[in-house]
Amino acid sequence: MSQLPLLVKALRRLEVDRPPVWLMRQAGRYLSEYRAVKEQHGFLGMCRSAEIAAEVTLQPVRIFDVDAAIIFSDILLPAACLGIEVDFNPGPVVKNPIRSPGDLNSIKVGDPAAKLSYVLDALRIVRSDLEKEVTENRKAVIGFAGAPWTLACYLIDQGPYKHFAGTQIFAQRHSEAFKGFVMLLADLIADYLLAQIEAGADVVQIFDSWGGNLSEEDYRRFALPANQRIIETVRHRAPVVLYVGGGSHLLSSMYDSGADCLSVDWRTSLEKAVSIGDGSRAVQGNLDPAQLFAPVEEVIRHSRKMLGSVMKTKARHRGYVANLGHGVLQETPRESVKAFVDTVKQSRWSDIPA
Ligand code: CP3
Repeated sequence: MSQLPLLVKALRRLEVDRPPVWLMRQAGRYLSEYRAVKEQHGFLGMCRSAEIAAEVTLQPVRIFDVDAAIIFSDILLPAACLGIEVDFNPGPVVKNPIRSPGDLNSIKVGDPAAKLSYVLDALRIVRSDLEKEVTENRKAVIGFAGAPWTLACYLIDQGPYKHFAGTQIFAQRHSEAFKGFVMLLADLIADYLLAQIEAGADVVQIFDSWGGNLSEEDYRRFALPANQRIIETVRHRAPVVLYVGGGSHLLSSMYDSGADCLSVDWRTSLEKAVSIGDGSRAVQGNLDPAQLFAPVEEVIRHSRKMLGSVMKTKARHRGYVANLGHGVLQETPRESVKAFVDTVKQSRWSDIPA
């Protein structure tokens, strides 16, 4: 019998002594251990080998003793299920992006459990590794996928435009075809997340990193229905975290997605996120990743301030997960990551001044 991981307890809004902590993009180039493995295998080689993906997943868990392992993979890998080829240099390069509604008609969706079996194998390895350590609070395993809107930002040709305006233009020009496409992605992502849960993910996170590019009205038209479909399908099997980048104007849509936990960036007030709707959702975030470049004493001060701002709300003791507001940046000093994690782990809700 394994104990409920601390992260799962917090997401279920059970009472805990301190918030769980992990970092988005906690495995990556800021770690020399990661760079050494990447030099040998390349990014895609690492993702596609279950053993190596599992090893890299566990690196930050061993180094910083964070409360969760997020599986090492990428949101663009499911493009393979649509016959779309993606390379990394280091950001995603899509070889045959969608250019017209006609391209959407010819898409045939492949089975994610078959096409991405290496991700599922890596999850099984990580889960069994973490279960070997019988501690009071077993570390959680996090599976993830991109939200349909954010995936569409990469999969649709951007033409001469930057900041994914090409996808906004496609959605305005061909709104019915676009809405059909995000729903097709929603079914694919729901199946993929269910397979990840089956393989051992305790929690799943949906990354809507570019959701904030949309107005509230267009987020409700082009992004929210797909997120709702995924969450409705998956939620009864594991808690779902929804991250929206730049989403301070989208909190009510995030709430309406049905996600168990709203993951917000540093531009969003934690107090507002905690009190949205009936206040019944967990909240994750939201230290600015750039603040990890400040002197270590400052990092500790910023981390305490973040905890203090949650304490001011009625979320006290429940439903909060400490994290950054976006992924760890490439040259982040590891002492700062350690200071952030240690500050949270040494905190007790009962000691934090409101
Ligand atoms: O969090 C983790 O440690 C798990 C691994 C993870 C990666 N990508 C590995 C990766 C996760 C959760 C992702 C998600 C992802 N990928 C998102 C959503 C999160 C976010 O940051 O908004 C997005 C938008 C992508 C697409 C993507 N993949 C980009 C923009 C890049 C380049 C980023 C960069 O830092 O240059 C990638 C490549 C990628 N994915 C890397 C890693 C570690 C860097 C590859 C390398 O080491 O060369």
